[in-house]
Amino acid sequence: MKGIVLAGGLGSRLFPLTKVTNKHLLPIYHKPMIYYPIETLVEAGMREILIVTGGKNAGDFLRLLGNGKEFGLAHLNYAYQEGEGGIAAALALAEFFADGGLVCVILGDNIIEGSIARHAANFRQQGEGARILLKEVEDPQRFGVPEIRGSQIVRIDEKPAVPASNYAVTGIYMYDAEVFDIIKTLKPSGRGELEITDVNNEYIRKGKMTYDALDGWWTDAGTFDSLLRASNLVAAKAQQGSQTAIADR
Ligand code: DAU
Repeated sequence: MKGIVLAGGLGSRLFPLTKVTNKHLLPIYHKPMIYYPIETLVEAGMREILIVTGGKNAGDFLRLLGNGKEFGLAHLNYAYQEGEGGIAAALALAEFFADGGLVCVILGDNIIEGSIARHAANFRQQGEGARILLKEVEDPQRFGVPEIRGSQIVRIDEKPAVPASNYAVTGIYMYDAEVFDIIKTLKPSGRGELEITDVNNEYIRKGKMTYDALDGWWTDAGTFDSLLRASNLVAAKAQQGSQTAIADR
């Protein structure tokens, strides 16, 4: 399965931090934000990775990440998103890269404590359709929110005023190649974007959507509060790691 990191968009909720740089190049504790989603994919065994970015600072990604040597990769692939057409519009640019196979998509501002290796293995075994990862949160109205009946997701609402559950649809999605046909049928939403939630609802409608609950903490980093939260969570994890290393000596 190939990996795709979506790091386009304008990061307008973080203005003026994003006035002269791309949101995904901002620091999360000791590393640039984009490092974390790449590490998540690499840790789960993906070796072919595409970064979709855009805006005025796209060249900085090449200078920062190069060919991916720092992540143990032999090469990295890049695509450029014109404008801010939405998450599904950014994903559409990956059709050539996916080449008919399964893909694992992660949003460039999604940071997790643990591993998605088990979930990726589940999807490889599933072999087709889609699989999303859910996380229980205190503020579901900020996210895509699933309504779950029994073991099935029956619908996802994007940023609902009255959430149907306490779960967020995290920005980690696994799809078969049909995703690119679905994206071609989408119409822009009220906020003028092609919504990933519309893609997911189409898989639900077709009865081809499954899900796992993600272990460990998960956060986005696209607002001032979540950016700070992400840094604090990563700092605490790094500290825990160094304490464990000292105890192991
Ligand atoms: O973080 C999970 C949430 O991400 C989901 O629960 C929501 O269902 C999903 O719509 C999304 O919500 P946000 O409104 O937080 O997405 P945002 O516009 O902040 O974009 C998240 C990332 O997606 C961003 O860091 C880069 C990528 N993106 C976004 C847009 C709008 C692109 O690559 N291109 C784009 O045009």
